[in-house]
Amino acid sequence: GDNVLYLAHRFNIEMEGACEASLACTTCHVYVSHDYLDKLKPAEEKEEDLLDLAPFLRENSRLGCQII
Ligand code: FES
Repeated sequence: GDNVLYLAHRFNIEMEGACEASLACTTCHVYVSHDYLDKLKPAEEKEEDLLDLAPFLRENSRLGCQII
């Protein structure tokens, strides 16, 4: 599906996505601009659990492959 990870790749923007959007890594970790944060569908529990393992976690952290 169309998520931020796939969109980045489609537009030749470099972005890591080691597990191919299967919620098994944190390499697609991104910071979302605060202007957009509350426009997104909120993270599900599994994404939150993985984010807890991500280095340099911030309150605007998301997994790029889960932003749709
Ligand atoms: Fe692995 Fe997003 S690419 S969780």
